[in-house]
Amino acid sequence: MGKQRVLSGIQPTGDLHLGNYLGAIRNWVEMQHHYDSYLFMADLHAITVPHDPAALAESTRRVAATYLACGIEQEYATIFVQSHVPAHSELAWLLMCITPLNWLEDMIQFKEKAIKQGENVGAGLLCYPVLQAADILLYEPDKVPVGEDQKQHLELTRDIAARLNYQFGQDDQPVLRLPEPMIRAEGARVMSLTDGTKKMSKSDPSELSRINLLDSPEQIAHKVKRCKTDSPRGLWFDDGDRPECHNLLTLYMILSGQPKATVAAECKDMGWGQFKPLLTDTLISVLAPIQEKYHAIIDEPGYLDGVLKQGKEKAEAIARPTLEKVKAALGYRVAG
Ligand code: TYM
Repeated sequence: MGKQRVLSGIQPTGDLHLGNYLGAIRNWVEMQHHYDSYLFMADLHAITVPHDPAALAESTRRVAATYLACGIEQEYATIFVQSHVPAHSELAWLLMCITPLNWLEDMIQFKEKAIKQGENVGAGLLCYPVLQAADILLYEPDKVPVGEDQKQHLELTRDIAARLNYQFGQDDQPVLRLPEPMIRAEGARVMSLTDGTKKMSKSDPSELSRINLLDSPEQIAHKVKRCKTDSPRGLWFDDGDRPECHNLLTLYMILSGQPKATVAAECKDMGWGQFKPLLTDTLISVLAPIQEKYHAIIDEPGYLDGVLKQGKEKAEAIARPTLEKVKAALGYRVAG
């Protein structure tokens, strides 16, 4: 039997942060040795909120370089740009026509982002989860490794596929395969540094709320120094009244690679003044090699373009036949 397949992606809107790394990329790095991996930059998603055309292509390259810098290897994974594979947009349209409107209006991310944009909400923001369903279903993956916030979109993807199978498939032969989400317990929801009840996010207006993977040691030290804390003496996990404490201890635990019990014992009598330098040093030592590799990749002329060109070809070879299969089920016949 061949390897199972995984697929996942990140929107190239701004630099990637610790949540993207711990919730998604870190898991992909481990999985690439066991799964046939398809990892992409969701640049069609990036224009669902106001964007700067002058920055789009560069942000997409930066995200690709970040994947590689974090340890994704071209030998095991296909790395590609969503907009380079036209089947994504085409399947999205076909799926849009079978998706009930009220399914989309229920999406939490739509509601949150729509509130932020007020009256200026584009239809793309509403329809974006259908594009995400197309991204996934085209590759017929077994698993989709993501952070907790994507769970609802994956459930929608399964519902859309099931609906298409029901309406257009034969009993013994579904048109599309239903994927499973894969959400790791640890790191699936990294919280903001300025509010432990909100997730760390690229769209938070405050830079102090997140650690970006490319932050300098000085920026990291500054952000950790300024992050929200509380007054009780001693630090411990799992206290609903101390969300910041739980979040920061969890970050330290994952980044230092220690078991929870070890960290709990190490930190139980600490004050913030003692813990913060420890977290700062751990962050800097985990991010330094990623940053070094990132700069080497970005500075090497032609390298990234080569990776993305090969990725596009490999991605198309999988996506195109799936699109043709769906078109045939919907009644389209090949031209000529
Ligand atoms: P995006 O770009 O918002 O996030 C990319 C990945 O990072 C995870 N993530 C987090 N994990 C833990 N804690 C956080 N604070 C945190 N913030 C983000 C996300 O769960 C995600 O795994 N719509 C998607 C991109 C996408 C996609 C797809 C993903 C488009 N098509 C197909 C999977 C499959 C998005 O906006 O993710």
